[in-house]
Amino acid sequence: MKMRFFLVASMMLLSFLEITEGGSLRKNFYKKSCPQAEEIVKNITLQHVSSRPELPAKLLRLHFHDCFVRGCDASVLIESTASNTAEKDAIPNLSLSGFDVVKDIKDAVEAKCPGVVSCADILTLAARDAVSVQFNNEQKWEVLTGRRDGTVSKSLEALINIPAPFHNISTLRQIFSSKNLTLHDLVVLSGAHTIGVGHCNLFSNRLFNFTGKGDQDPTLDSTYAKFLKTKCQGLGDTTTTVEMDPSSSTDFNSDYYPILLRKKGLFTSDATLLTTKQSRNIVKELVSQNKFFTEFAQSMKRMGAIGVLSGSDGEIRRKCSIVN
Ligand code: HEM
Ligand SMILES: *[C@@H]1O[C@H](CO)[C@@H](O)[C@H](O)[C@H]1NC(C)=O
Ligand SMILES: *[C@@H]1O[C@H](CO)[C@@H](O)[C@H](O)[C@H]1NC(C)=O
Ligand SMILES: *[C@@H]1O[C@H](CO)[C@@H](O)[C@H](O)[C@H]1NC(C)=O
Ligand SMILES: *[C@@H]1O[C@H](CO)[C@@H](O)[C@H](O)[C@H]1NC(C)=O
Ligand SMILES: *[C@@H]1O[C@H](CO)[C@@H](O)[C@H](O)[C@H]1NC(C)=O
Repeated sequence: MKMRFFLVASMMLLSFLEITEGGSLRKNFYKKSCPQAEEIVKNITLQHVSSRPELPAKLLRLHFHDCFVRGCDASVLIESTASNTAEKDAIPNLSLSGFDVVKDIKDAVEAKCPGVVSCADILTLAARDAVSVQFNNEQKWEVLTGRRDGTVSKSLEALINIPAPFHNISTLRQIFSSKNLTLHDLVVLSGAHTIGVGHCNLFSNRLFNFTGKGDQDPTLDSTYAKFLKTKCQGLGDTTTTVEMDPSSSTDFNSDYYPILLRKKGLFTSDATLLTTKQSRNIVKELVSQNKFFTEFAQSMKRMGAIGVLSGSDGEIRRKCSIVN
């Protein structure tokens, strides 16, 4: 009797875990239907990264923007039409790129197994593989597959769902929790800002005239602010970019956290992670690179499971930029 209760309880726990970890997704979903799919994604991603060190940041951000709007369904890849402005043409799209790489991969995968592998899975795998390159092919996080592609992409939804660089911690928490992600996930995933760049106009309010008195944001290190002012031309500079981790902006490491603790986080959305005791404690923990890598792998798995389509929902898009 006791044993039976134990069995039922563990089965319930298992199915609960399955739901929270992404339900229908599983390891190597295409094992039978397209055995080489994951290897093709990896090979082509690696080819592109070898000549474009900034690409891991692009693909990682593209995946994040995909997952936060209608779930990870490749809706971010859809082009606008005469009657619809798509996510990729929304205001928060600034500098999204990597679309060409996804297309290259999709073409190769379609040539091998037409109509089988989703654009959403390709993007999820490519983001992981791109970031993993510098770790000698050691995959930095596990990617489950089986996502299907959505058929809807609306710019307004990107505007509402993508966190903004000027958001404070309560707004960020709210957006993340609407995706079933925790405060812990928020702090961990923000560590993605250890690679890549940001445009001046997204943080220059912190440099110039912060409160209307010609001042700076007091939560930004003043020496660093001075340096940033030599880079950015003023409040309206939409073309200059600055590395978010100035000493190693193409290295995926835990540098984001010590930088943040020295008040050198670039965006308000970074600096705000120090404003509550709970989040500040998580920041301090993640200075440890081993801890960061372990936690990042788990949070990415959770992000990659947001709102995924499965079974007969959605479709397998033939071209990632157009619904079938
Ligand atoms: C917490 C809320 C977040 C906010 C407010 C935010 C905001 C931003 C902004 C404003 C940029 C600069 C874009 C540009 O100027 O071109 C950026 C870049 C980037 N973000 Fe985030 N982000 C957030 C979370 C994330 C997450 C969860 C990831 C991935 C897991 C991520 C990955 C990246 C990467 C890799 C870049 C660099 C892109 C490049 O070099 O082109 N961000 N983010
Ligand atoms: C991927 O690249 C490896 C190493 O270059 C090669 O041996 C393998 O055949 C490639 N696989 C596919 C599916 O292209
Ligand atoms: C972003 O949206 C604008 C229109 O708002 C569009 O002109 C631009 O091409 C888009 N950028 C990307 C990278 O898709
Ligand atoms: C955060 O921003 C929101 C929206 O701008 C605002 O209503 C709220 O008071 C802010 N919270 C804190 C703690 O500053
Ligand atoms: C700073 O902001 C104040 C108040 O909004 C404005 O009157 C002033 O012209 C601004 N100064 C500059 C240099 O933009
Ligand atoms: C969050 O979890 C709830 C309850 O399990 C579920 O109904 C909802 O669809 C989830 N939201 C997302 C965006 O995955």
